[in-house]
Amino acid sequence: MKFFIDTANLVDIKKAYKIGVLSGVTTNPSLVAKEGVKFEDRVEEILKEVPEVESVSAEVTPDALTAEEMIAQANELIKINNGDKNITIKLPMTLEGLEACRYLTKKGVKTNVTLIFTVNQALLAARAGATYVSPFLGRLDDISEDGVLLVAKIAELFRIHNMSAQIIAASVRHPDHVTRVAMAGAHIATVPFAVIEQLAKHPLTEQGMDKFAADWKKAVR
Ligand code: G3P
Repeated sequence: MKFFIDTANLVDIKKAYKIGVLSGVTTNPSLVAKEGVKFEDRVEEILKEVPEVESVSAEVTPDALTAEEMIAQANELIKINNGDKNITIKLPMTLEGLEACRYLTKKGVKTNVTLIFTVNQALLAARAGATYVSPFLGRLDDISEDGVLLVAKIAELFRIHNMSAQIIAASVRHPDHVTRVAMAGAHIATVPFAVIEQLAKHPLTEQGMDKFAADWKKAVR
């Protein structure tokens, strides 16, 4: 399973990129709004900052409701950073979003269908040609459903029918989500930087380092 970072914060993106675990970046209107910068400018900055990833998702804005409006926005987004091939157009899981997905896929543009909460939605998005489908597991857990089970079912479905869409497990809230979606067959987990930090840490690692440091002071040199 690969890691994408789920943020529009450049500092966090740089930190994750530096440690070499990053395969992509996902953003959404809420994440961009938190940054207080112009959307297109931030997308360009991100693309420049992480040249060696496979995908940077930029979402069409919530006021684009028709396929035509989504495609018009996508056509502007794909010009950013001299037509950067990593740009991935994130589209909502609606009938209009699917239509835009099919159109953009045929044009060779990468797509990420977002706000997926059922297996059937994932199946439709994959059939519309989505490069990535993004089930939101944390938000399902929030309403007492099982987000990881959804990811497992989508992974099984894609295996049975030999479908090439990659599953981005999104709305990942903690390290246990990461382990469980990896075991469930997600291709990618998109996570905030705080979760990457949590994944790396263990109290016994810290204790072990402290002990090595204390013992090393007594070593003959
Ligand atoms: O990738 C989707 C993600 O940003 C949503 O996460 O925590 O707002 O449900 P959350």
